[in-house]
Amino acid sequence: MKAEILKMLKEDAGYLSGQQLCEKLGVSRTAVWKAIRQLEEEGYKIEAVRNRGYRLVHQADVITSAELKTMLHTKWVGNRIVYFDETDSTNIQARKLAEEGAPHGTLVVADAQLAGKGRRGRNWISPHGTGIWMSLILRPNIAPASASMLTLVAGMAVTEGVLGMPELKEARKCYEKEHTEGSFCQIKWPNDVVVGGKKICGILTEMSTEEDSIRHVVIGIGINANTEEFPQEVASTATSLKRELGFSLKRSHIISAVWEAFEREYARFLVSCDMSELKEEYNGLCANCKRQVQVLHPAGAYQAEALGIDNEGCLLVKKEDGTMEAVLSGEVSVRGIYGYV
Ligand code: BTN
Repeated sequence: MKAEILKMLKEDAGYLSGQQLCEKLGVSRTAVWKAIRQLEEEGYKIEAVRNRGYRLVHQADVITSAELKTMLHTKWVGNRIVYFDETDSTNIQARKLAEEGAPHGTLVVADAQLAGKGRRGRNWISPHGTGIWMSLILRPNIAPASASMLTLVAGMAVTEGVLGMPELKEARKCYEKEHTEGSFCQIKWPNDVVVGGKKICGILTEMSTEEDSIRHVVIGIGINANTEEFPQEVASTATSLKRELGFSLKRSHIISAVWEAFEREYARFLVSCDMSELKEEYNGLCANCKRQVQVLHPAGAYQAEALGIDNEGCLLVKKEDGTMEAVLSGEVSVRGIYGYV
């Protein structure tokens, strides 16, 4: 009911009377009043005027399920939304829900994570109010070996989603005039999203399998949306959209842009269950493609030119002796020869 009230308030620039809300929703005046109070507690500013009703005067930067339900224009992503003001990790919670039978498309979102997980056992710093910490449960009918490509699909979705936001149109134009080497937001293979050579988003995909099939996949996405400061240990490689743009974005707008892009790219991925449909766009968004990179192979690092991904999502590199290699994500990471990208 809270989501419906919020939707009605958003759609109406004027006042909505308590009577109108009660009749439309088939609930009591007290129930409406309680929901309005809850929305105010979450950060919305709602004016209440005697004999006129309620009016939304300020939309908070909140990512509660009520807010996301009014924002998401997706077909199946977020068909169920589970919101935590604070939790250990949305990936941990999503996994629990998946084990309890939560459906494909369930989206878990938190305002803060106390034990956010990064790749390779690292922590992911996830404070309140500034970033986007969310995980999606998928139950894909694909081979477990193909699941790592879903991380690449998610990286594309974040990049394309952010690039497509109307709020960014002008800022993108200015940025891309000054930086001729690519779009405002790019992918660092396999799935970091970078702006100005620094990371704004990390993705952690975790899978549960049974014999040769997938039980569920959890795609965890962390986006530094409005973060102002980073701890010293990550300050040289991390940034936020706000730091690069100079203004804040509503997190719910970013979330909806990302999942709309994800639905589109996921459907294309499923055509062949690999990257063959997507690799051209992926390579077009890839920050390290056509560049000299440092390949950090467990057997020893070497320098090579990154050419782009193949159908399996491996990065094709040309070594200094002219030989080619397909580098597998998960096993190997790459760095630029002068910096992070
Ligand atoms: C990386 O190391 O680049 C991956 C970071 C992934 C962070 C996200 S935040 C939401 C989800 N929950 C987690 O605990 N981790 C992922």
